[in-house]
Amino acid sequence: MTAQSRRYHITTFGCQMNKADSERMAGILETMGFEWAEEPNDADLILYNTCTIRDNAEQKVYSYLGRQAARKQKNPDLTLIVAGCVAQQEGEALLRRVPELDLVMGPQHANRLEDLLEQVFSGSQVVATEAIHIVEDITKPRRDSSVTAWVNVIYGCNERCTYCVVPNVRGVEQSRTPEAIRAEIEELGRQGFKEITLLGQNIDAYGRDLPGATPEGRHKHTLTDLLYFVHDVPGVDRIRFATSHPRYFTERLIRACAELPKVCEHFHIPFQSGDNDVLRAMSRGYTQEKYRRIIDTIRAYMPDASISADAIVGFPGETEAQFENTLKLVDDIGFDLVNTAAYSPRPGTPAALWDSQLSEAVKSDRLQRLNRLVNLKAEARSQRYGDRIEEILVEDQNLKDPTQVMGRTRGNRLTFFAGDIHLLKGKLVKVKITEVRPFSLTGQPLIAACL
Ligand code: SAH
Ligand code: SF4
Ligand code: F3S
Repeated sequence: MTAQSRRYHITTFGCQMNKADSERMAGILETMGFEWAEEPNDADLILYNTCTIRDNAEQKVYSYLGRQAARKQKNPDLTLIVAGCVAQQEGEALLRRVPELDLVMGPQHANRLEDLLEQVFSGSQVVATEAIHIVEDITKPRRDSSVTAWVNVIYGCNERCTYCVVPNVRGVEQSRTPEAIRAEIEELGRQGFKEITLLGQNIDAYGRDLPGATPEGRHKHTLTDLLYFVHDVPGVDRIRFATSHPRYFTERLIRACAELPKVCEHFHIPFQSGDNDVLRAMSRGYTQEKYRRIIDTIRAYMPDASISADAIVGFPGETEAQFENTLKLVDDIGFDLVNTAAYSPRPGTPAALWDSQLSEAVKSDRLQRLNRLVNLKAEARSQRYGDRIEEILVEDQNLKDPTQVMGRTRGNRLTFFAGDIHLLKGKLVKVKITEVRPFSLTGQPLIAACL
């Protein structure tokens, strides 16, 4: 069978980096002549782009993989690939566990998919997990949206948070040059994309590995400089960035966000814990006081900014009183959204070896208590939108109600309103908010064409 008649399916787990990598790998497969198959069981090539941040994410991959491995026994022409973070973590061991696999490839190898597949098609079983300098992408990604797009600015992470597998699986920080990033955004602008999200695991580290420092000792290329550098790209109306690290977050960045009209007033800054001893054990490099100061400064410049975060409960040794400090932080700050998780010991991370692990019962009880508070606070934060006029960038139809479209406020709240997606896709529409829920809004558009 030739590549021309073959179909592929990609299933993506995990974070935005994986989603961005999947879009690039899909682009590579399409330039090789593969066509997208909606149904995995119709595909001749199956790629799982995997996540290993917590044990349940990893286990999910094995259960999906088991089903396709069984299919391959009946259909030896099926090409089976595991990419992403489980591939990087397990490497050769994955081949022993699932001998039906053709290719195991770490995240740094995503842009090399075509080369790797050539080796597979000439009959080899391939493992690509060695650390490499990430090659610039030359293929056009197949983007899921035609309105919003991810733009990688820095790969990898040099932090060593004691719970986290990311530095092991994503490697050291590698920033793209400002020129390469701007060129990608200009192309997106020409293609009609309206919103871009600059991506990095620790985006505040952007540029510190690029050559050139100023005489004052400052890096020549910081995230703040990058925002100024790409801000005037024609066609792009909104700019977002994620994920921010409290250790490196600067007031200069906050000022830039306040000053630059396209940069949305939404900040995703994980705090992980509200207790200083736990933060120290996590090696996060900041205190809860510093975190509060960052939020106060953001709100001083942009009183309506939305703030979201990630938090972990049940870190080894976390006492009830320390957990309550996390509740207190959430109560005091009033987040728009917090992604919460129970601590999961990960192979190759220091905290997994400590003997102060908490029971699953304690972790799940804390998770439920934190989630209750997070929902209450999000509901309270949503109230401020009631009766307001918000600018919504329309992304898609509301899947549950095709008479409605969906989009987001500048603060990233999902919003639904009546309208025809064919007329409105990619448009910025003023919408009067009529209904608020903890994590989404409904409204009425202020222009007749939408109705
Ligand atoms: N770079 C980002 C987060 C990357 S991982 C940062 O520094 O904040 C995404 C989230 O997964 C983390 O913010 C953390 O809340 C969660 N996470 C990471 N490792 C975890 C683990 N071992 N157990 C539970 N949650 C974890
Ligand atoms: Fe993981 Fe910490 Fe790096 Fe975030 S900053 S990816 S939590 S090691
Ligand atoms: Fe998961 Fe890898 Fe992202 S472990 S969260 S997919 S960096």
